[in-house]
Formats: sequence, C-alpha cells, structure tokens
Amino acid sequence: MHNLESILTENRVFPPNPDFAAKARIGSRAAYDALVAEATSDYEGFWARQAREWLTWDQPFQTVLDESKAPHYRWFGDGKLNASVNCIDRHLPAKAKKTAIIAEADDGSVRTISYQQLHDQVAQMANGLKSLGITKGDRVIIYLPMIPEASVAMLACARIGAIHSVVFGGFSAEALRDRINDTGAKLVITADGGMRGGRAVPLKTAVDKAIEHGCPSVERVVMLERLGNDSATIVDGRDVLWSQLTADQPTTCEPVSVESEHPLFLLYTSGSTGKPKGVQHSTGGYLLNAILTNAWVFDLKDDDVYWCTADVGWITGHSYVTYGPLALGVTQVIFEGVPSYPDGGRFWRMVQDHKVSVFYTAPTAIRALMKLGDEVPKQYDLSSLRLLGTVGEPINPEAWMWYHRVIGGERCPIADTWWQTETGAHMIAPLPGAIPTKPGSCTLPLPGIMADIVDDDGAPIGPNQGGNLVIKRPWPSMIRTVWGDDARFQRSYFPETLKGYYLAGDSARRDDDGYFWIMGRIDDVLNVSGHRLGTMEIESALVAHPAVAEAAVVGRPHDIKGEAVVAFVVCKGERPQGADAEAMIKTLRDWVAEQIGPIAKPDEIRFGDNLPKTRSGKIMRRLLRGIAKGELPQGDVSTLENPAILEQLMGQ
Ligand code: WTA
Repeated sequence: MHNLESILTENRVFPPNPDFAAKARIGSRAAYDALVAEATSDYEGFWARQAREWLTWDQPFQTVLDESKAPHYRWFGDGKLNASVNCIDRHLPAKAKKTAIIAEADDGSVRTISYQQLHDQVAQMANGLKSLGITKGDRVIIYLPMIPEASVAMLACARIGAIHSVVFGGFSAEALRDRINDTGAKLVITADGGMRGGRAVPLKTAVDKAIEHGCPSVERVVMLERLGNDSATIVDGRDVLWSQLTADQPTTCEPVSVESEHPLFLLYTSGSTGKPKGVQHSTGGYLLNAILTNAWVFDLKDDDVYWCTADVGWITGHSYVTYGPLALGVTQVIFEGVPSYPDGGRFWRMVQDHKVSVFYTAPTAIRALMKLGDEVPKQYDLSSLRLLGTVGEPINPEAWMWYHRVIGGERCPIADTWWQTETGAHMIAPLPGAIPTKPGSCTLPLPGIMADIVDDDGAPIGPNQGGNLVIKRPWPSMIRTVWGDDARFQRSYFPETLKGYYLAGDSARRDDDGYFWIMGRIDDVLNVSGHRLGTMEIESALVAHPAVAEAAVVGRPHDIKGEAVVAFVVCKGERPQGADAEAMIKTLRDWVAEQIGPIAKPDEIRFGDNLPKTRSGKIMRRLLRGIAKGELPQGDVSTLENPAILEQLMGQ
C-alpha cells in the first residue's frame, strides 16, 4: 500500500511558508497550541464557541454535549437550524451575485451558478419534492453524475428536512438496489446519464433495473435530462422529469428548521463484515466540522477558487464539495469528467483556466499524473495555486514531493488530511500556516480532536510503535449510528475492550515529534484508488455466481491504485485452466462489476482446487496476501490443513 521503508526513514521537514502563514487564519504554532489548550481545559466550551461562531442557528442551543446515551452522542441537542440556509441564504445579502459554482462538464463546456441562482434552483427543487409528498424524515436516494444538480438535490432535501443518501454513479444497479432498500427511500433522483471520458454512463437504466429487481419503498423517480438523447425510458405515473417538476415552482421555499441531531444524510460505506453500512450524520454537528475544517485546514477565504476533485458519491464530496465550501460562501469548481480526458493535462488546464487557488485530490490521481512526467503540468500556468490537499489513502513520499515541487512550485503547503466517512470531516491534518509538514505524514490532530494510538486494551503506546488509531472523546461530526443497526454501530466503533474510545479501523504510529503516520487498515477493508471496499462484499459477489463454490479476496500493493484486488476462487467442478480459465476470469470480473460496480473488479483472479485453511476451516489470508505479492509463504504453515494448495496457487 505504501513504501514502509521510505516512510520510516522519511525525515524531511517543510516549515510553513512565511507568506502563507502571515495571511492564514491560524498563522503560528502558538495559535494552534492555544486552541488545543482551550479544547483540553474546557472541551464543551470550546465546541460551543465554535458552533456559535460558525453556524447560523434558528434556535440557539443550551446543551452542548449529551453523553447519556453513549456511544450515541448528541451535540447541541436543543438547537435548531437548517443546513441549506447555512450554505446559501445567509450569504445572500452580501453575495447574491457571487459565483458559487463553476461547473465544467466532461466535454469542457462551462456553466457558472451564482449564490442567488443556487438559492432559486434549490428552492424550486425543494418545492418540487414537496409536491411529490416528500416531507421531513423521508429518505431520498440521489444517483447523479458529478454535476451541480447533485448539490442542488442534496440541498433541496436538506431544505425540507428530507434525509438524502447519495449513491456513487459508478455503483451498479444491484448495489443501488441494496442501498435503496436499506434506507427505505420513497424517491430516487437520477439523470438519463452522465459523461465520463467521452462515454455516456447510463444511470436511469440502472435505476429501472434496481426497481425491477425489487425496491418496494420507491414511489417516484425524478430524472434530470443531462444527455437529452431519449436514451432513457420513462415509466408513466412513476417517473417525472426534473425540468417539469421544477419549471413552475416558486423560487422561494420556507426552510424547515430541524433539531441539531436530525439526520442530514446517510452514506453507505464498506466495513469488514456483511453488507455496506449506512453511516448516519447529524445536521448541526456535521455541518460545524465541515465548515471549520474548510476554514482551518484549507484556510478558505472569500477570494479563493476552490476545487475538490471528489465525487459527491463519497464523503469527501459531501464535506468538501457540497456542504463545507458553500457554508463558507466561497467559489468552487465542480468537474464532471476524469483526469485523463481528453488528455493527462486536464486537471492542470482547469487549474489554469479557472485560476484555482486551493486544490484537493487523492494520492491515486497524483501518482497516475506523476507517471506522465513533469512536462505535462509544466505546459500550464499553475501560479494561482496557494494550497494543495490530499485524502483517501497514505501518500507515498515520492508522490508528495512531486506534488510539492511540480504542482505546488515549492511554495504551496500540502495538507495531507486523515479522516473517514464516519468522522464526517478532517481529524488529523496540518494547519497550513502553523504546522511544519513531513512527506507522508498527516501530522497532528486538529484542535478539539483527541486522537491517540493505543494497544488492543486501550492502553497508550509509545512513539514509533504501531497500534490502533482511536479518538478518545466524541466530536460534533461523528457518526451517530449505522442506519437501522445500533448494535453494529456499537460493535464496530466502540468495542468493549477500548474504554469507550472510537476505533477508526486504521493502524498508525507516532514519531518523536508526535506526528501521526497512517499505516493502513487493520480490518478486511481494501483501499483501492482511495475507495473503500470490503473484501467480504467482493467475496459475497463472487460466490453468488453459479459457477463459484468459494472465494477469498485480498489486497496487493499497486503503484497507482494503492491497492489492487486479488481474488482466489474455487469453482464448482473442475478447476478451470488455460483458455477456460481466461474465459472464466472475464466472466467473473464482469459479474463483480455488475454486482457492485467497476471499481470492485478483481485485478487478478487465481483458481485453486481449494483454499489454504487451518484445521478448523479458517482461510489463511496472511498466506494469500503473500501469494498475491508473489512471495513464497513465510512463517508457520504447520497449522495448514492442505499445504500442497500453496504451490498450486503460486504457480499461476
Ligand atoms: C484511509 C475518505 C492515510 C484510511 C475520507 C481511512 C487515509 C479510510 C487518509 C477512510 C490519509 C483516508 N492518509 N490514509 N490522509 N485519508 N485514509 O471512509 O484507511 O472513504 O480509514 O473516507 O481511508 O475512507 P473513507
């Protein structure tokens, strides 16, 4: 996943750029230390002050943190607010004409949307949703391309207190159906399709198929005509066009004031066991950390042009495309396409054309673009950039240095941000005007975030030793529960052995300066191109194929994707070989794409007569991980039931 050796020997330190620090919101180590000290001495007072400063409340809160139902913590519980008001209405007096969104489509065409226009579109859509009978607490699935309408749909839900659940457009009809059914959504908002790299992605067909395969809760489907090519079928009485739904609606819509704990959204993510978990986020607490981290870590100001390349189908798109930047009232770029189309200069041309000042992307994209050589970015004027961010997986020092040197011109601080779907916002990241950076480290916890590294019993671990990354105190934007499954929430994140600490599922170590270095997942979750995939989910998909008897999936380090998916498969009947094996590999890869989505396709499939198992029947994944890397199994294999299988699997 990363080059451990280079991380362990990495000792370069980059102090904050003094010009940057002079203008930064938090411009010195002393300022950071003062915030940390404030949070340590008066935890609730610290968060109450932030919540009053950054959020607009309809009804102010009196209670800050309620721990009576721990670990289901409640923040600002008696306060009321509306997220869309915080993201739009409160900016209007001063910024009605300011550009909120610069949307560049796959084909390069550009639309701009002002805060007033965003307000009007959100109000019309919110009124449209009401006309379909959607009210507070109803779940709405959003399955759209990476276009501004995705944010409009999310904010329209928030305006009326409906709970959205965005499903990434790259997930298949089957994956979509599972998510729809888990939420019990009444409505799906989709498009006829989206464009990525010059190719149309047919979203509406997937929605039709999902519903055909059984989504009893869905009453209506709203379809945006993004392609406008009549490629989609319209089901009478169920489907309504976005344009028809919104055209005659008023451009004002009274926002519904919701309790701070009212769920703003559900977002599904992979865990180590079972099906994806619906991570439930709150309104007030979530929004607070989303705003605060955009202000602190990205230092966003009124004149910035901000661009986060993540899709709204992921948490990064929620906190760093839709909610955080809009709540701060900045101008942002939204991009529908992919970094390689029409060529590998796309990102850099867009930075130049839109004068992007703060740019946030994933290590997998940086590594892929680095491979194309320095000449590509050097053709563009990147002087507008003042800060770079990365997220999603550990960044190897080589990629960090390239980002720093070639993209950042050695002047832009790099914010390596560690966080998760469940944490809602950045947890460990450098404040760019205050904290010196080291390539490959996400540096220090943000003020108010009590991150630590402990052993399996919750006891602290000294410097330079790996352990469990935990957060010892609840924070406002934390996951509230797994939708419909409190027990799974408690078991996954607050195991009894850990004294009530939040267990992130990552291992990490701290160096002598207290800097955090993330080492990877401790569970059976893979990180492929910055996307979380549960090995169990892929295994379940494989064994659902009629030809497959058994399957085990592991990760293997991959230069660009971080990790690649390797599947070991036992077929019913004879083990396929030669041309049969090749045909079966293709069948199974396509099958996984259909069951989950193309991102989960195994990079490699090996067939065995069986799998290496202990005498008690447990698959020895440690050995499979070795084999996937091409290493002869090391260590103790004496507990193995069937040692001969190793050679068979190695030999492919
Ligand atoms: C990994 C994405 C190292 C980590 C925001 C975590 C990282 C998982 C970093 C969450 C980082 C995220 N350095 N590893 N800066 N950021 N991760 O839920 O393993 O899609 O647990 O949230 O990604 O992935 P998720």
